[in-house]
Amino acid sequence: MDIPIIGSLNGITSEGWIEYAQQMEQAGADGIEINVFYIPADLRLTSEEVEQRYLDIIRTVKQTVKIPVAVKLNPYFSAIGNMAMRMEDAGADALVLFNRFYQPDFDIYGLKVLPNLHYSESNEIRLPLLWIAVLYGQLKTSLAATTGVQGAREVIKYLLAGADVAMTASALYKHGIGYLRTINSELEAWMFNMGFNSIDAFKGAMSQRNISDPTAYERANYIRILENAK
Ligand SMILES: Cc1cc2nc3c(=O)[nH]c(=O)nc-3n(C[C@H](O)[C@H](O)[C@H](O)COP(=O)(O)O)c2cc1C
Repeated sequence: MDIPIIGSLNGITSEGWIEYAQQMEQAGADGIEINVFYIPADLRLTSEEVEQRYLDIIRTVKQTVKIPVAVKLNPYFSAIGNMAMRMEDAGADALVLFNRFYQPDFDIYGLKVLPNLHYSESNEIRLPLLWIAVLYGQLKTSLAATTGVQGAREVIKYLLAGADVAMTASALYKHGIGYLRTINSELEAWMFNMGFNSIDAFKGAMSQRNISDPTAYERANYIRILENAK
């Protein structure tokens, strides 16, 4: 294939990462995405211990392979910006924002846990969008956006926030792989209409550091929105 292949390395414990990372590299992966699918349900675990687990895994995998290593973060760290910085220090070459943990539902009459799959919706881009816009220009890692990309509109928003790449899963399950072509041509049409010749011409244009009013990302806007609604 002409496109890079990134191996997604999923795990919940600190075991096994080295062996599988090596196998992926030997099999020809161009990069590895570390996905720590870990729900800290043990109440004795402190946030520091949980964070350390991520950093140890990144360091271990980085020492093992030569190909670039990305980390798919979850949005539940108390200080995402600081955690992103420490992941970079631990060796992460790219950050993927955010992991969308599988969350089961309940059947309230059958009193059962329902293992159903809920595809993402476009309004779910807001949280990763915020953090990509904040992190843009502050780290050396590449930034990948995932969650909520239903079409070119969300790709454009993520790029404007400062993402280097946008990813999509649910939309391809809904519309099929050929939908990627639609997304790309709509992105090109938008760029043509806006007079942008390259992605770099607009990447990060709406990031916190590049917009004229950086407080646009802060809570005070709630008050403004409510006042305007009166
Ligand atoms: C059917 C399905 C299977 C998935 N399996 C995985 C998986 O094995 N590992 C993983 O890291 N993410 C998995 N994901 C999560 C996606 O990689 C992605 O993070 C999430 O769906 C959000 O992106 P989206 O809004 O484009 O769907 C899966 C998503 C779907 C819909």
